[in-house]
Amino acid sequence: MDKQLIEDQLDHTIEQTGFDDLGEIYHGKVRDNYRQGDRRILVTTDRISAFDHVLPQTIPFKGQILNQTAAYFFDATEDLVPNHVLSVPDPNVTIAKECTPIPIEFVVRGYLAGHAWREYDRGTRTLCGKSLPDGLRESEQLPEPILTPTTKAEEGHDQDVSRKEALANTGLAPATYDQLAEWALALYRRGHKMATEQGLLLVDTKYEFGRTPDGDLVLIDEVHTPDSSRYYYADGYEDRLAEGRPQRQLSKEFVREWLMDHGFQGRAGDEMPTLPDAFRAKVTKRYVELFEKVTGQTFEPDTHPNPEARIHSALGDYVVQESH
Ligand SMILES: Nc1ncnc2c1ncn2[C@@H]1O[C@H](COP(=O)(O)OP(=O)(O)O)[C@@H](O)[C@H]1O
Ligand SMILES: [Mg+2]
Repeated sequence: MDKQLIEDQLDHTIEQTGFDDLGEIYHGKVRDNYRQGDRRILVTTDRISAFDHVLPQTIPFKGQILNQTAAYFFDATEDLVPNHVLSVPDPNVTIAKECTPIPIEFVVRGYLAGHAWREYDRGTRTLCGKSLPDGLRESEQLPEPILTPTTKAEEGHDQDVSRKEALANTGLAPATYDQLAEWALALYRRGHKMATEQGLLLVDTKYEFGRTPDGDLVLIDEVHTPDSSRYYYADGYEDRLAEGRPQRQLSKEFVREWLMDHGFQGRAGDEMPTLPDAFRAKVTKRYVELFEKVTGQTFEPDTHPNPEARIHSALGDYVVQESH
C-alpha cells in the first residue's frame, strides 16, 4: 500500500464516534457499540489497545482492516458456526444481532506462545486443566490444539480456568459449554487451515460467544483478526524453531514490544508513551500486510477525509431517534 496514502490519513482517523441518534452507546476499547433492541451496531474505530489500555494515538485504517478481516472470517466459517453478523454497511461497521455475551473467552492455542509459553517456561505443565508434555520449546506446535478459556477477572488480567471452574464461575450448563468448546476448536482448525494455505500459521486466537434474543448460541465480537489472534509466517518457522530464534509474527506483539522498550507494560505507575507518526504508519503497514496475506485480497483503503460523516450516512437506515 502506498506510503503517502497512510501519511495523508494520519489526521483523518476515527478516534471515537458519538452519534446520538443511533441508540444507547457503549465505548469498548476498540469498538463503539450502539444498542437498538435486537440489534447492535459495531463501529470499529482506529483505536488500538495493548496491555488492556487504549493507547493515546490512533492507527490509520486499522478499524477498516479489523472490521473487514472479521467480516471475511465470519463469512468463511458460517457453515461451521452461526454468527452475529446481519450486514456490513460500511468498511468500519457491522450490524449484528444483539446478544447476551457468554462470560468466558474461548482461547485456543495450537502453539506454545505468549502467556502459555511464559507459564510453561516457569515450570507449569497444566494449563486450564490440560497437561502439557515436557521438553517443548517456545513457539513449538502443541501435540493438538488446546482450549485455554479465561474468565474476566474483577481486577486486572483475565483468569485461566479449567472446564470445572468455568462452569462454577458462570453457571453455564455443561452441555452448552461443551458445544462452545467444540465450536472454538473447529473454528481454530478452519482458521489454521486457511492461514496455512496463505503461508501463515494461526498460533492462537480468542473467541467470544453470545445468546441471541431467540436463545440461539452464536459467535460474536470478532474472529481471526490481528487483535484477537497471533499469526506466524510459515516460511522459516522450522528453522527458527530449531535455532531457537524468535518467529516472524504478524500480530500486535511488535506494538507491545515497542511499548515495553518505551517503559510501558500496563503496570500501575507506568507512563504511556506517545506513538510517533512514523510508528503509527508502520503499525498500519503491518495491519495491511496481515489483512492481505491472510485473506489473499488487496486492501482497498477508504480514504474519505471525514470517515465519521461517511459512516453516519451509511447508517441512515438505522437512525432510531432524533438527533440533538
Ligand atoms: N453481538 C454482540 N452482542 C453483544 N455484545 C457484543 C456482540 N459482539 C460484540 N460484543 C461485545 O461488544 C464489545 C465490542 O467492543 P470492544 O471494543 O471489543 O470492547 P472491549 O473493550 O470490551 O473488548 C465487547 O465487549 C464484546 O464482548
Ligand atoms: Mg474486545
